[in-house]
This record gives sequence, structure tokens and C-alpha cells, in this order.
Amino acid sequence: MVIGDLNVKGGEAVAEKLGKDCVFVKCDASNYDDVVNIFETAKQKFGRVDFGTFPFPPHKRPTLRKTARIAVSLVKKLNRLLIVVAANAGIAESMDLTKPINVAAGQTPPKPNLKTVDVNLYGPLYAAYLAVHYFRTNSPATGGRYVVTSSAAGLYGHIDLPLYSAAKFGCVGLIRSLGLDRRCIAENITFNAICPGWVETGLAPPGMIEFVRQNCAEIITPMSTIMRAYNIFLDSNVSAQAYECTGELAEPRPEPDVFPLPVGC
Ligand SMILES: NC(=O)c1ccc[n+]([C@@H]2O[C@H](COP(=O)([O-])OP(=O)(O)OC[C@H]3O[C@@H](n4cnc5c(N)ncnc54)[C@H](O)[C@@H]3O)[C@@H](O)[C@H]2O)c1
Repeated sequence: MVIGDLNVKGGEAVAEKLGKDCVFVKCDASNYDDVVNIFETAKQKFGRVDFGTFPFPPHKRPTLRKTARIAVSLVKKLNRLLIVVAANAGIAESMDLTKPINVAAGQTPPKPNLKTVDVNLYGPLYAAYLAVHYFRTNSPATGGRYVVTSSAAGLYGHIDLPLYSAAKFGCVGLIRSLGLDRRCIAENITFNAICPGWVETGLAPPGMIEFVRQNCAEIITPMSTIMRAYNIFLDSNVSAQAYECTGELAEPRPEPDVFPLPVGC
């Protein structure tokens, strides 16, 4: 298993816990060459793509422990399945899109900071593109499993997170489309997304989980719910599915309407 993350300290700590079958590589998910490097490392170290970018919530020990447990469980799955890509890196809102801008006469607004989209959408796009390629280089090529961490904000708009929501909707659009790809279906390559509500990790702003706990505790989602969805993706050839993970519930969210576009037209 290869773990990629910006956070070297947290990533190395998790890799060490997981032992010799796990390698950490520093990676900026929004940088194409860094993402290539993860796949190449997997290929060189393990001979095939047994690969995952994974959360290493580095900020708090409990989160790190939880993450290590999930990673161990994934490694067990990997031993059976051999080929998994988990595009999981994510950041919160990189700017306030509607904050009034002071623009001097004759000037135009500065370019917006869309880092959230770079990491949360471009990262998974690079990973999906590379995953298909590297899955095919395995010998024998038995297919592959691509799982992206979207969000409940990838299914529903979020008042405070328009960039985040746009990127996470993009991830859902990506897997719902790639999951229909005829070549990938024939090659046993699947694409799915998990869409969690609030999870207690380093991403949640300070105080937010407490606020949610007091006002709508049912949307706090334990890692076990997310792992249930992962297990479904790893154990079956289900594809193009966005699983909403809220509280104890992990279930597919169908598209709202059937769009009458003939497949492949
Ligand atoms: N925590 C939640 O409530 C929640 C809800 C829905 C979806 N998610 C999604 O879950 C995923 C994991 O986040 P988390 O909640 O574990 O948060 P987290 O902040 O604990 O973990 C995110 C990880 O991504 C890494 N990262 C950030 N930018 C990166 C980059 N450019 N390149 C590589 N790594 C980078 C961070 O170092 C960190 O280890 C994210 O995609 C997030 O959007 C989280």
C-alpha cells in the first residue's frame, strides 16, 4: 500500500504503524507529477498497483489511531483484491466567493483562489485517469477499484461551502459517468464515491462537531459507516454509485431523475 499526503509527519507515522507493506510518499494531490509518483512508487515497490491515497488526519492522536485502523482493514482487503485507488485528500473552502471586493477604478477583480477545486476535484481526476492506466499495466490485469471521498455536500448544496460543494458534486459526476464507461465495465474497473456527513476528523473546524452534536447529532458519521460503504465497493462490481454515509446509514443515492440520453450518443 502506498499512502500519499502533504503531511509528512502524520503520513510517515501511519505508514510505520502499518509495517513493511506500506510506504509513505509526500504528495500534493493537486500536482499531477506528485500523483504520478504515487502510482510509480506502487509499481516499483510492489510490482503492481496496490495503491491508496488515504486520510492521515495528522492533527489529533485519536483521529490518527482511527485512520490506522481503517488503513489496516483496507490493507487486508488489498491482499485479496490487489487493486484499489482511494482518492481521499481534501481541504475546506479556500476563499469566500461572495465577499465584497474593493476594486480601484479601472481595475478588475483579482483571480479567485480556487485551491479547494484543485485539491478536491483535480486531485481525484488525476487519480482516476492514472488509476485506469495503471490498473491495465497489472499482469494479469484483473480490473480495479477506484473510490473517491466526496461528501454530503456533493449531493446537496451547502450554504457555507460553494467551492467545496462544487468540487464534491464534480467527484460524484465523475464516478457516475466513468462508472458507465463500456471499456472499464468490460475490464472490471469500477468507480464509486462515498458521501459522508460530518465526521470527527481534522477537517471539521474547531467547535463545529460540538455544534453539530448539540443541534443535529444524527448527521455525525462514525468511520464504521464509511467502512461499510468501502467494503461494498471492494467486495462487488457495483459501479457509478454515490453512497451517502450519514450516522449509521450507508446507502446509494440514486440520481434524482432519469435523463433520457442514450448511453454513448
Ligand atoms: N470530516 C468530515 O466531516 C468530512 C465530511 C465529508 C467528506 N469529507 C472528506 O473526507 C476526506 C478526508 O478528509 P478528513 O475529514 O479525513 O480531513 P483531514 O483534514 O483530517 O484529512 C485530509 C487529509 O488530506 C491531506 N491533504 C490536504 N491537502 C492535500 C493535498 N493538496 N495533497 C495531499 N494531501 C492533502 C491532509 O494533510 C489530511 O491528511 C476529504 O476529501 C474531505 O473532503 C470529510
